[in-house]
Amino acid sequence: MAALVWMTLCLAAAFAVDRSNFKTCEQSSFCKRQRSVKPGSSPYRALLESLQLSQDSMKLQLINEVNKVPLLLELVGLQGNMTRIKINELSPLRPRYEVPDVLVRDPPTTWLAVTGRDENSVELSLGDSGHKLILTGKPFRMDLLQGRELVLSVNPRGLLHFEHLRHRKDSFSDKVSSSVGSLWDKIKKLQRYHDPLIAGPTSVGLDFSLPGEGLGGDPYRLYNLDVFQYELYNLMALYGSVPLLLAHNTQRTLGIFWLNAAETWVDISSNTAGKTLFGKMLDYMHGGGETPQTDVRWMSESGIIDVFLLLGPAPSDVFRQYTALTGTQALPPLFAMAYHQSRWNYNDEEDVAAVDEGFDTHDIPCDVIWLDIEHTDGKRYFTWDTNKFPQPRNMLGRLAAKRRKMVSIVDPHIKVDSGYQVHNEIRSRGFYVKTKDGSDYEGWCWPGSAGYPDFTNPEMRTWWASMFSYDQYEASMENLYIWNDMNEPSVFNGPEVTMYKDALHQGGWEHRDVHNLYGLYVQMATAQGLEQRSGGLERPFVLSRAFFAGSQRYGAVWTGDNAAEWDHMKISIPMCLSLALVGISFCGGECGAGGRLSPDAELLVRWYQVGAYQPFYRAHAHLDTVRREPWLFGEENKALIRAAIRQRYALLPYWYTTFYHSYRSGQPVMRPLWVEYPDDVTTFSIDDQFLIGNALLVHPVTEQGAQGVQIYLPGKGEVWYDVHSHQKHHIPAYQRGGSIVPRKERVRRSSDCMYHDPYTLYVALSPQGTAEGDLFIDDGHTYNFESKAQYLHRHFSFASNTLTARSADSKGIFESPAWIERVVILGAGKPAAVFLRQPGMAETRLDFQHEPETSVLTLRKPGVNIGANWSISLR
Ligand code: NOJ
Repeated sequence: MAALVWMTLCLAAAFAVDRSNFKTCEQSSFCKRQRSVKPGSSPYRALLESLQLSQDSMKLQLINEVNKVPLLLELVGLQGNMTRIKINELSPLRPRYEVPDVLVRDPPTTWLAVTGRDENSVELSLGDSGHKLILTGKPFRMDLLQGRELVLSVNPRGLLHFEHLRHRKDSFSDKVSSSVGSLWDKIKKLQRYHDPLIAGPTSVGLDFSLPGEGLGGDPYRLYNLDVFQYELYNLMALYGSVPLLLAHNTQRTLGIFWLNAAETWVDISSNTAGKTLFGKMLDYMHGGGETPQTDVRWMSESGIIDVFLLLGPAPSDVFRQYTALTGTQALPPLFAMAYHQSRWNYNDEEDVAAVDEGFDTHDIPCDVIWLDIEHTDGKRYFTWDTNKFPQPRNMLGRLAAKRRKMVSIVDPHIKVDSGYQVHNEIRSRGFYVKTKDGSDYEGWCWPGSAGYPDFTNPEMRTWWASMFSYDQYEASMENLYIWNDMNEPSVFNGPEVTMYKDALHQGGWEHRDVHNLYGLYVQMATAQGLEQRSGGLERPFVLSRAFFAGSQRYGAVWTGDNAAEWDHMKISIPMCLSLALVGISFCGGECGAGGRLSPDAELLVRWYQVGAYQPFYRAHAHLDTVRREPWLFGEENKALIRAAIRQRYALLPYWYTTFYHSYRSGQPVMRPLWVEYPDDVTTFSIDDQFLIGNALLVHPVTEQGAQGVQIYLPGKGEVWYDVHSHQKHHIPAYQRGGSIVPRKERVRRSSDCMYHDPYTLYVALSPQGTAEGDLFIDDGHTYNFESKAQYLHRHFSFASNTLTARSADSKGIFESPAWIERVVILGAGKPAAVFLRQPGMAETRLDFQHEPETSVLTLRKPGVNIGANWSISLR
C-alpha cells in the first residue's frame, strides 16, 4: 500500500467559484496535446554510442525517430541519494527557460560510473548510494534499482514528448498536421483569450512509474491563480504550487521534483491491471505475481525537463533532500508564531486603538494587528489614507509601547497614475512587465488600471527592496511588517484572472515561462527589503498568498480566501500538512474565513482551536462581513477563544524550537502521522489529525455539533476523546510518551511580554520510563543566532529516574534570565524524595506533589536558570 501525497493547493467544492472561468486539461491546448500522446512504444531512442561520461554526469542524445529532432539527456549524480535528469533540445533555436533562483546552490555532485553494457542498454552506478540505473536504448527508458528492487522507472509508458522550437516563419500546422491534425486551429479555438503562441508549441512531458498503489483521477493543475472561495475536493489550480510529488509505502519514501515554473499538469493513475513493461519487469524480477504500480505523468507548457529523483529512503531523508535543494523554512521571528488579528479593514487609527485595547480589556493575548488595502491612499501601496490614518507613526508607536506589531499590505499591482511616485519610478526605470509590443502591460486590479513590476528582474527586486527602507516607506517603523497579496499575479480582467501568457519579462522571457515563480519573487524582494532596512540584522516577516518551490525561505503563506463553512475549516489541515511536506512549514488557514459569509459562534470557536495548532495563526475577515473580534460572541465563546489563544502562547517555546529544527534540518513543523510512524499503514490516510514536531498529536474538532473526536493513537489504536467531559475549552491534543515539551504558563499580552518568563517542562514518560526533548532560545528576532552563535540549545533527558539538562550544542552562547519554575512528569509513581543537583553545589531537596489517579508528579520551583546544567533525581 502506498500513499501518494501530491502537493499543490488543489482543493475545494462550495459555491462561489465559477469553474467555467478556469481551464480543464481538455481546454488547455498543451495539456490536451500532451495527453493525446498515448502509452506505447516511445518514439525516442537513446543513442548509446553518443554517451559521454564525466566524473559526476552522463550525457547522451535521444532521437525522436518520427521527427528526427535530437534531444540531449544529462544525468547527474547528486550527493545525499539524489539524481538529476535534464532533457533539452540538443540545439534549440533559442535558449529554453531554465528556472533560476529556486535551487539554493548548484547541488553537490557525486560519482557516476558505467558498470555494465550490452547492445541496447547501459548500466550506471550512482555514487555510494547503492543505486543502479539501467538505461535502455530502444525504446528509451530508464529503470532505477536498489539491489534487485526496482525503485522507479522513467519513460516506462513512452510518454516523453518534447515540442521543439521552430522558426516563426515555418507553417506550424504543416509541420505537425500529419501527427495531430490541424493543431494551430485547434489551439486557437481552445484559447478563451487568444494566445498567439509566438514561439509555437513548446511543451514538455515525461512519465514515471513507482511501485505501489496511488490515487488516480483527473490531472492536477499547477498554475498559480486567484480563486475566490475555492471549491474543495477537486484538482483545480489554486494560489500556489510546488511541483514535488511524494510517494510513501512501508518500505520507502520517494520524491519526484519537477523544476519547471510554467503551467503544469500532473496525471496520476494506478494501474494494477493492464501490465506495462515496468510491470512485466517487476514480475520477472519478483518471480511473477501482481505488483501494484502508480504511473505519474508530468506536462509543462514550456521550459525544459529538469527533474530530481529524491530517493529517500525514510520520510526524513526525503525532507532533507528536498530542502537541501530548495532551502529550509526560514526561522520566523518569535512574534510571527503568536496570534495575529486581521480584518479587511480596520477602518482608521481609532479603530486600531480600540481593537488593541479590546485584547487587553478581555485579557486575550495578541501580537499583531493587520491593515488591509483600505489603509492606503486609493490602493497606492506604500502610502496612507491621510483621513483615516493621519498619524501612522504614532499609531505604530502606541502598538510598540504595548510590545505589539503591525502588518500592512503591499500588493504587486501598481496604480497607473502619473501623480503616484512609485508608478512613475517603476515606469521610468522600465521595470514593468511589457506587452509583446513593448509597451507597459496594464491589467485591472484593486486600484483600477495597474502595472505589474517585473519581479523576475533582479534590478527591479533590488529597487523594490529599497522601498521598504524607513526613509522611503513613509511612517514605517521597526514593528511594521508586510503582507504580499494578489501575487499569482491576480489580474481581474486577464485570462483566468491572471496575466496574458505572452506578456514579456526581463530577458525576453514570456510570462508563460515564469508564471509560477512570480509570487515567490514578490515575497523574496519584500523580505529582502525588510532585512535591508535593519542593515541585515533583523529577520523579516512577510506573508504571501502565491508561492512556489523555495518560498519557505521568505516567510509565511496562508490558504487564501476560504468560506465560512465547516468543510473549509477542515480542509485547512490537509492543505497545510501538504505544504509542510513540500518544505513550506509556515502555513495557516484563515481563522473565521476570508469569504463573504460570517461564521456562527460555534464555527468561529472551533476555528480558533484549529488555528491554535497551525504554524501560522491569524484571524481574518472579508470587508462585507460583520465585525468578529473574539469578544463579540458572548462571555462563554470569548472564554473558549481566549483559552485557545492562551494555549498557543503557552506552547510558544515548543513551536519556536520546532521551527528551529525545521530551519536546521528541513523537517516539517506540522506533520502527518505517517511521517513519524512510516510503517503503520493506518496512518497513511489520516489527514484530520496531525503532529506538531514529533511530540504533540492534535485532532481538533472540525464537525458541527461534535461531542468529541475519534483519535488514532499509533501503537494503541482508536480512542474516543469526549470534548465535553474534558471541559469545553479543551482541544484534543496528546503529548507523546517519551517526549519533553517546554512551555511558558504565565500568558501575557504578547509574546514579547513573555520573553523572559520562566519555563515549565512537561516530561511524558515512555513505557520504559524515559523521555527526551529540547529547547532553542535566542533573542527572537535577529540573525545573531547565525552570525554570532548567540543562542542556547538545551537538551533534556529522563532516564533511571533522573531528569538531566545539558547543552545540545556547545557552539551557541547566550544569556537568559529565564528559569525553570516547574517540572511536570506524566506517568510517574510517587517518589519518597526529589533532589536537585547542580555542578559545584550541594544537593537540595525539591517540593513536589503527586496525583495518584493521573500519575502526574509536579516538582515545584527547581529555580534553575534555563541555560544551566543540572539533574533532578526521584528517589
Ligand atoms: C484577497 C485576499 O485573499 C484577502 O485576504 C484580502 O482581504 C483581500 N484580497 C483584500 O486585500
